[in-house]
Amino acid sequence: MIRSVVRGTGAALPRRIMKNADFEGMVETSDEWIAQRTGIRQRHIAGDDETTASLGEAAARAALANAGLTPDDIDLIVLATSTPNNTFPATAVEIQHRLGMHHGFAFDMQAVCSGFVYAVTTADLYIRGGLARRVLVIGSETFSRILDWSDRSTCVLFGDGAGALVLEAAEGAGTIADRGVLAASLRSDGAHKDKLFVDGGPSTTGTVGHLRMEGREVFKHAVGMITDVIEATFSQAGITAADLDWFVPHQANKRIIDASARKLGIEEQKVVVTVDLHGNTSAASVPLALAVAVADGRIKKGDLVLLEAMGGGFTWGAVLVRW
Ligand code: ACO
Repeated sequence: MIRSVVRGTGAALPRRIMKNADFEGMVETSDEWIAQRTGIRQRHIAGDDETTASLGEAAARAALANAGLTPDDIDLIVLATSTPNNTFPATAVEIQHRLGMHHGFAFDMQAVCSGFVYAVTTADLYIRGGLARRVLVIGSETFSRILDWSDRSTCVLFGDGAGALVLEAAEGAGTIADRGVLAASLRSDGAHKDKLFVDGGPSTTGTVGHLRMEGREVFKHAVGMITDVIEATFSQAGITAADLDWFVPHQANKRIIDASARKLGIEEQKVVVTVDLHGNTSAASVPLALAVAVADGRIKKGDLVLLEAMGGGFTWGAVLVRW
């Protein structure tokens, strides 16, 4: 059977780093509060010349270089983002143009923080369905542009950045020993749409709006939803937590990551954590964490890697990949 195998990874971060202490003059908060409640120590914030498209392009170019490929080799670009450059066209199309691609097709996916997990699952289906041979899957966000910088309960949590993977069709035996995407489970439930949302949009206010979140409510649901969808993915693949080499969760809050790993019985040393360095970069958080763990030599060919995310909607999901 056809499998979607990871051929390359890449990442891009804005130049400017904002430390927790930099908030102290802006809102009533402290480095200690932010670090203790979230595990975040710093985040990158996009400058005027840095956008979701420019960061996405840079991450895509890094992933292509890592794969030893050029834009000519790509058939499809799937961009996960909730902070597009424009309401339309899709920012994926702008990235396609920036890469000098005049062939293939490109579109955006919007599942907030779960966007990258949704995008990998979608790209895998396009590959297995024979509609594309090589896909650039990108998560790119500039959440700094939709934050209310006077709201201490949200502005300290998010950052900007982009990460990308190249997925490529390869022949597999149909067992979990294959390399590539092995199992996936996606969920959403719009009953929770008002717990984490942006209070503007083209069809309602005609404005971009600002992020609003009932943090305690999100926290309350997060661990249960994350662990349920991971259990479903494990049972699809016929594995247990002990079979995993790496757990690469959405990087929103270290306490949610720790509680999820504990509940699933995943050992601490198998968990990739970058929330301290990047904050919550929404759809970019999982590919950014992947790029870090691949670059530093932790994730290697043949490793069994579990990706997970949960975000606005609510949306949530998990993907199992043999690297
Ligand atoms: N600095 C200092 N105090 C603060 C800050 C701050 N930055 N923000 C809030 N507080 C205060 C609150 O006002 C509150 O004060 P009060 O007790 O006087 O009312 C107190 O701290 C405690 O607030 P809580 O909200 O109960 O704090 P909690 O321990 O729940 O931590 C947090 C808040 C970090 C937001 C947590 O709830 C959380 O991580 N929630 C989940 C967020 C998340 O994971 N989102 C993921 C999806 S993101 C996406 O999809 C885009």
